[in-house]
Amino acid sequence: MDLLSNKWIINLLVCCFYLGKWFSSGAGCRHTLTCVRCNSVEKKIYVHLNYKIPCVRLLNATHQIGCQSSLSGNVGVLHVLESEENLDWVLRSGPNPPYMVILEYRLFTRSIMMKLKNGSGRVAGVAVVAPNTNPAAGFSPHNTCPNENTGVYTEKYDPTMAHCNVTVWNPLGNGLSYEEFDFPIFSLKDDNETQVIRQCYYDHNHVVNGSAPQYPLCAMQLYSHMSAVTDTATCMRRNDINFSLNPDMVCDPLGDFNVWASTRPINNTAKGHKNGESVVIAAARLDSRSFFFDIAPGAESGVSGFVTLLAAAHALRNVTQEAHLNRTILYTFFQGETFDYIGSSRMVYDMEKNQFAVDLDNVHSVLEIGQVGLRPNSTLWFHSDPVSRRNNSVNEEVCVENSRKLEIKTIFSATGLNVSVEEPGFSQPLPPSSFQRFLRARPIPGVVIEDHKSAFTNRFYESMYDNGEYLNISYPPNMTPEEQLEHITDTARVSKVSKAGPPLSTFYFFLSVTQMLYSFLVQSNNSWIQQLMTSDYANHLTDRPANLYVGVAVQQSEPTYLVQHLLANLTGSTVNATQDNCKNQRMDPDDKDSKHLYYYFWVQGAAPPNSTERQGFCVRSTVRLSKALSPAFDLHQYTSTDYSTWTESRWKPITGRIFLVASHDLEMLTLGVGIGILLTSLLLTYFFSSKAEILFSSGREPATATY
Ligand SMILES: *[C@@H]1O[C@H](CO)[C@@H](O)[C@H](O)[C@H]1NC(C)=O
Ligand SMILES: *[C@@H]1O[C@H](CO)[C@@H](O)[C@H](O)[C@H]1NC(C)=O
Ligand SMILES: *[C@@H]1O[C@H](CO)[C@@H](O)[C@H](O)[C@H]1NC(C)=O
Ligand SMILES: *[C@@H]1O[C@H](CO)[C@@H](O)[C@H](O)[C@H]1NC(C)=O
Ligand SMILES: *[C@@H]1O[C@H](CO)[C@@H](O)[C@H](O)[C@H]1NC(C)=O
Ligand SMILES: *[C@@H]1O[C@H](CO)[C@@H](O)[C@H](O)[C@H]1NC(C)=O
Ligand SMILES: *[C@@H]1O[C@H](CO)[C@@H](O)[C@H](O)[C@H]1NC(C)=O
Ligand SMILES: *[C@@H]1O[C@H](CO)[C@@H](O)[C@H](O)[C@H]1NC(C)=O
Ligand SMILES: *[C@@H]1O[C@H](CO)[C@@H](O)[C@H](O)[C@H]1NC(C)=O
Ligand SMILES: *[C@@H]1O[C@H](CO)[C@@H](O)[C@H](O)[C@H]1NC(C)=O
Ligand SMILES: *[C@@H]1O[C@H](CO)[C@@H](O)[C@H](O)[C@H]1NC(C)=O
Ligand SMILES: *[C@@H]1O[C@H](CO)[C@@H](O)[C@H](O)[C@H]1NC(C)=O
Repeated sequence: MDLLSNKWIINLLVCCFYLGKWFSSGAGCRHTLTCVRCNSVEKKIYVHLNYKIPCVRLLNATHQIGCQSSLSGNVGVLHVLESEENLDWVLRSGPNPPYMVILEYRLFTRSIMMKLKNGSGRVAGVAVVAPNTNPAAGFSPHNTCPNENTGVYTEKYDPTMAHCNVTVWNPLGNGLSYEEFDFPIFSLKDDNETQVIRQCYYDHNHVVNGSAPQYPLCAMQLYSHMSAVTDTATCMRRNDINFSLNPDMVCDPLGDFNVWASTRPINNTAKGHKNGESVVIAAARLDSRSFFFDIAPGAESGVSGFVTLLAAAHALRNVTQEAHLNRTILYTFFQGETFDYIGSSRMVYDMEKNQFAVDLDNVHSVLEIGQVGLRPNSTLWFHSDPVSRRNNSVNEEVCVENSRKLEIKTIFSATGLNVSVEEPGFSQPLPPSSFQRFLRARPIPGVVIEDHKSAFTNRFYESMYDNGEYLNISYPPNMTPEEQLEHITDTARVSKVSKAGPPLSTFYFFLSVTQMLYSFLVQSNNSWIQQLMTSDYANHLTDRPANLYVGVAVQQSEPTYLVQHLLANLTGSTVNATQDNCKNQRMDPDDKDSKHLYYYFWVQGAAPPNSTERQGFCVRSTVRLSKALSPAFDLHQYTSTDYSTWTESRWKPITGRIFLVASHDLEMLTLGVGIGILLTSLLLTYFFSSKAEILFSSGREPATATY
């Protein structure tokens, strides 16, 4: 009986299918007159977009920013925007709204985007075609005064310096990254796929002599619905409610891990103040962002600074191990700084709460490396805080640090960089920097090294164009990845010519700098990085530039892993230990203290020439991770004005596709036919099942029948 009824159902389905085909094709033909057209509607299957980067929703204490589609995705008729004047078709005159607007990157401006936002009833979504080479003009979707309210320059600290009153740091910033759009915005690559979209538009939707195009029209559907709405407090509350019912969260706090290491081992088990310890924090930031979710190359805004700090840590390894410096250098790499200083505010908070290996009393001074474009003949500017320098003792220390300009210049020139070092005017406040979070706690002396005197020289701050190309990381064509890795690029080559310093170490310095630049700006999946990684992370390495977007807490992102392992390699030493002991931090039985002072990595190493088996080894270093999660989330202060409150919405898989749509009427008709078929099949089912005994009581099929 089972078999029998199965076959029966299949027959019924097949029958319905043909009925449906017959109905819908007949209906379609009648409606659109030309059957050639309706055939093309049927034959055209959906074309799914493979490469598409969405803009996603982020929330803070008071606002939501970013983009989203409706729950079932947004569908619109394609319109390739040719100029700003052409907007009128989308916003007013076009007869088939809503439109899915395809923008060339040069039309991705604030003016056009705000007009589209205002007319959002007629806009289903926007797809921006990213160029294959960087635009000539500058572009920054960030705001003009980054982290305006969470640095040190508040009304309370010095009203004349609040809100970038003295210097507007990012004058090119158009603020698009901080707008809210109630339609999806995607980024597409300029390739064959985009060509298919354009062709579909020109074949079906192109307006000839002002007359409206005829159905069927080429349409696009973008799906990027975001679960979280309103603000962080709202979504955290919904997280709590949801958590008790099912583990479906709606948003997650932004965050990651800070990476730090000290030139002298510090007992990391004992938290809080360390008597007699005086540390100089040498800092850089690890993260960046752009308008779109996972293209944040951050070449100048992030990579240039932390690669310089890594290289300096490498260059200073021998010096700090041999000479007994009075002070310990604490190399710190802060995560999430783009979003109201997540990493640095957390470290300062931990120091205040005795949750970190040292406390603020141990901090002698801060030296931060910001954006240092690594361009030939660049000038480095030592920025300091005019307010805390009014205090004499701080001023003296800053002057001492500034007098080290010569030493710093010597270090740089010893490593081949031909730079000059200068100070901007005394009355200029600090640029956006992690150091500001330390100053917020107390007047610590410090300087921030940047390649700009006042406004940023970076023309692509926090945009997808702040990439390797912008830093002139380029390779002769036809080079294998392996050759590229070893190739000293123009950026490094121009500045390599140097009389000072031993040539050999200069060479190795450059090799490691170019290898680092290659790993972050071209691809991390290369033979050098693979040697330095632990095996469990090595297969996460990617063949594309690193994405410096911070991600959600508390997961280690690719840049954090890379910097952690690079720092261990560049400042640590190899030790003789078995893999098992190394991984379990279990060293000599008589050296019980080592796990308080050091961290051990078992790295993959290289394979010897005639073998494929890698020879791993144990690396001992002082490299540690510390949480980079805003204290606002530990304190449950989701409306905090002191700490970052940024969260990222969750979303379902993001998809996009193009297809031809028939007119609305036709769709309604097809729906009607569909309902008709459903009713008919229900009736049939009822008939068959009520008469089942009569129909199936005889003529059993053999049990071997297959279907
Ligand atoms: C927004 O659109 C309305 C009409 O829908 C128009 O009156 C208004 O001027 C527009 N605002 C901006 C800023 O473009
Ligand atoms: C900047 O500060 C000066 C001095 O207090 C003040 O006169 C000026 O109005 C401020 N400018 C802005 C744009 O707030
Ligand atoms: C939240 O973000 C919006 C948009 O950038 C900004 O205007 C607002 O000041 C932020 N709120 C807080 C509390 O920082
Ligand atoms: C894209 O087009 C080029 C030439 O037009 C062709 O060689 C290439 O195979 C195409 N790529 C894909 C993925 O279709
Ligand atoms: C568009 O209009 C021009 C003159 O008004 C005419 O010569 C041309 O043939 C028209 N093109 C099409 C495709 O109808
Ligand atoms: C580090 O601190 C822990 C906990 O206070 C202590 O047990 C250990 O002996 C210390 N080790 C060193 C080397 O100071
Ligand atoms: C550091 O010292 C080791 C030997 O002690 C030497 O091989 C290495 O080249 C030195 N590194 C630098 C950067 O001078
Ligand atoms: C290190 O400290 C000692 C004593 O505190 C002092 O005599 C010496 O000059 C210091 N050395 C440096 C390089 O600052
Ligand atoms: C760098 O400076 C040198 C001399 O100071 C000059 O000859 C050279 O042209 C400069 N290079 C660039 C790219 O400006
Ligand atoms: C660092 O990596 C290199 C391979 O590039 C390796 O030869 C060296 O031993 C490593 N050093 C440490 C301390 O891990
Ligand atoms: C490493 O340790 C093992 C066992 O303790 C020993 O046999 C070996 O000689 C050591 N190797 C080196 C290079 O010290
Ligand atoms: C190649 O392997 C053999 C044995 O496995 C070894 O004796 C020889 O030294 C290796 N040669 C090189 C260059 O490592």
